[in-house]
Amino acid sequence: MDKLIINGGNRLKGEVTVSGSKNASLPICIAAILAEGISSITNVPRLRDINTTAKLLQSLGAVVERHENSMRIDASTINTVEATYDLVKTMRASVLVLGPLLARFGRSRVSLPGGCAIGARPIDQHLKGLKALGAEIRLEHGYVEATAKKGLKGARVNFDVSTVGGTEHLMMAAALAKGVTVLENAAREPEIADLAEYLNRMGARIEGAGTDTIRIHGVAELSPAGYEVMPDRIEAGTFICAAAITGGDVKIKGMKLEHLDALSFKLMDAGVEITNRNGVVRVKGPKRPNAINIKTRPYPGFPTDMQAQFMALMCIADGASVISENIFENRFMHVSELQRFGADITIEGNSATIKGVKKLSGAPVMATDLRASASLVLAGLAAEGTTEIQRIYHLDRGYEQIESKLAALGADIKRVSEL
Ligand code: EPZ
Repeated sequence: MDKLIINGGNRLKGEVTVSGSKNASLPICIAAILAEGISSITNVPRLRDINTTAKLLQSLGAVVERHENSMRIDASTINTVEATYDLVKTMRASVLVLGPLLARFGRSRVSLPGGCAIGARPIDQHLKGLKALGAEIRLEHGYVEATAKKGLKGARVNFDVSTVGGTEHLMMAAALAKGVTVLENAAREPEIADLAEYLNRMGARIEGAGTDTIRIHGVAELSPAGYEVMPDRIEAGTFICAAAITGGDVKIKGMKLEHLDALSFKLMDAGVEITNRNGVVRVKGPKRPNAINIKTRPYPGFPTDMQAQFMALMCIADGASVISENIFENRFMHVSELQRFGADITIEGNSATIKGVKKLSGAPVMATDLRASASLVLAGLAAEGTTEIQRIYHLDRGYEQIESKLAALGADIKRVSEL
């Protein structure tokens, strides 16, 4: 197992380029199975979750070829409509194959994902939506079995909660349903608009993606298409926080700052300078950030995927801040690890109160989930002395070459393989 060793205290300086979005790539690569033929997706990051997606598509019979940051998917050879527990348990997004397989073949069988480190994460809204489109759903032996013998039919779906995966899932299934589907209280994350753009490129007729009401005029079939995935807004946000926490001066290329308004306004309140010139975002960290409160919300609110990284920054703020997590019920796993750096944090319910300390001190810590791991890296960059982060396979699920990108900015960070 690999670990990261960081000698903290270096101010980050220089330029970094953001990779393609993990959370947009996953549904987009899965959507390729809606059409017979070869789709070519580019700007796909090289990550563990993308490897799992490739394996998942191959397990369905698709031919997948990868070259650097592109993925070529031939979905004309699909020969099974079943996704097994092994694949779904390693990556929850695998469940998104249920709707597309059902829409294209009239039947699918996909394992239920089970629990997760950050919360229960049920898929009731996905299933409610597919049922509204006329699917018969049975839960048996840990699997969801869905059938739609006469095909799916357009319907109104009103989500009880704002769900990114649920919205994406229904958009894919409804693209091939007969008639019009209206998704109400739809999630508005940029990744949803990106998926809709790809689906429309395939011949789907989707309007309103990125708003809370999405209309999908079903079509009889979709054709394969090429597509370039949007930049990863959470990776970009993590680099912004890395510059901020080290008092650095970093230029971030290839990102879209408008996808991160909620984060950047809070960071500017904290004293971070952020400017956007010709698509290059320059971030200058303050000597010490001001303490700022945040509440995570669905987009365009403050992203839960940036909560842990923002908390790392607040650990060295001048004053006390309160961070409320409103999306996932168990997304404070990083707190006890941040305390190992000397952070002063107390949790009550879904809120954490962070009393800023002047300095963090490097410590051996353990990664628990993807964004929690990122917060430990940030704390390690700012801390005095050496930090050793174990179980970094979590980090490899969502950050492409994080240590070489940070090292190029002047961080003293290296990956060590442990036998
Ligand atoms: C997506 O997860 C992201 N994953 C997550 O990224 C992200 O944290 C999350 O959206 C919220 O922004 C991908 O895009 C692959 P949800 P998703 O459905 O789709 C509840 C990362 O670090 N809910 O929007 O699974 C659910 O329990 C991660 O990259 C139901 O109750 O999230 C949660 O409380 C991890 N029933 C809330 O809604 C449902 O049927 C939002 O979940 C579905 C969801």
